[in-house]
Amino acid sequence: MESKQKEAIFRLFDEKPSSGLGFLDFPDDKPLPPPPPPPCYEVLSSEVSPNAQYTVEPVNVGGLTLFKGRVSTEEVFSLANSDLVPGKYEGGLKLWEGSFDLIAALSSEMQDGKLSFTGKRVLELGCGHGLPGIFACLKGAAAVHFQDFNAEVLQCLTIPNVTANIEKNTEHLAAPHAEVGPTKTETRFFSGDWGEVHQLLSPASTSEEDEAKCCGYDVILMAETVYSISTLPNLYKLIKKCISIPNGVVYMAAKKHYFGVGGGSRRFLSLVEKDGTMASSLVAEVTDGSSNVREVWKLHIK
Ligand SMILES: C[S@@+](CC[C@H](N)C(=O)[O-])C[C@H]1O[C@@H](n2cnc3c(N)ncnc32)[C@H](O)[C@@H]1O
Repeated sequence: MESKQKEAIFRLFDEKPSSGLGFLDFPDDKPLPPPPPPPCYEVLSSEVSPNAQYTVEPVNVGGLTLFKGRVSTEEVFSLANSDLVPGKYEGGLKLWEGSFDLIAALSSEMQDGKLSFTGKRVLELGCGHGLPGIFACLKGAAAVHFQDFNAEVLQCLTIPNVTANIEKNTEHLAAPHAEVGPTKTETRFFSGDWGEVHQLLSPASTSEEDEAKCCGYDVILMAETVYSISTLPNLYKLIKKCISIPNGVVYMAAKKHYFGVGGGSRRFLSLVEKDGTMASSLVAEVTDGSSNVREVWKLHIK
């Protein structure tokens, strides 16, 4: 007998949510629990998908012109018109506004002398387009690792975006008054769920001997990753597993509250506070007249 699996299609930030819940379907019955997560693995930069058409356009952010691709959700996931489908597609093909807030905040932290990417090991969690990680590459990071739930997102979008930006940057360097330095960053790509992907990422040091080697990430970046309450504990555990100790920092851009799905920066920070290992400070607040306030937070080990 054919089983008819219903999937919950979420509109995270629907401008006019009819029910206030943000769900598009299931007026009468509850959605089924999400399917088991896809396996974790490293996607090689040569594994670009030939199946999806990729077009590129410039965006100005953080004082740089970056290049972002466009691919169709229909082509990659056979999904028309949806922000995400929990457990199947987690929204990585769309460029969310938090990525712009994050890059703007990183740029201003750099200008204020509070942050440098030079020689740093950087991890972007829930990268999607990967523009914050690409910004770190262009600002001299030694290594940038990109993680997304969906390998397809890395293959169809993140890797082509990284390649496009590095190529344009190299061309740009030939021009006078280049605004960024040469890019010799190690870039790697990892797909999988936050509950499991630590197996592949660079672990934090657990001993003094380890600390002498280069362990963990100096800077962890993430934008629009804290919308779903059920994933927050694993996300926080992952951060603690792979942040460089004692000086690693996390920059998180998120909405204060994601109406209808319950997550948000404040929900994540309450978990951080309860745990007591890390401290947080507000770096930027973006209010554009909508009730959905956006924030950028910085976290570090106490
Ligand atoms: C709303 S998208 C944001 C994408 C991108 N950071 C941006 O701002 O444009 C959420 C991202 O979080 C990641 N994500 C969500 N839940 C996840 C999970 N349980 N495990 C791993 N990654 C997850 C997905 O990879 C997805 O790209």
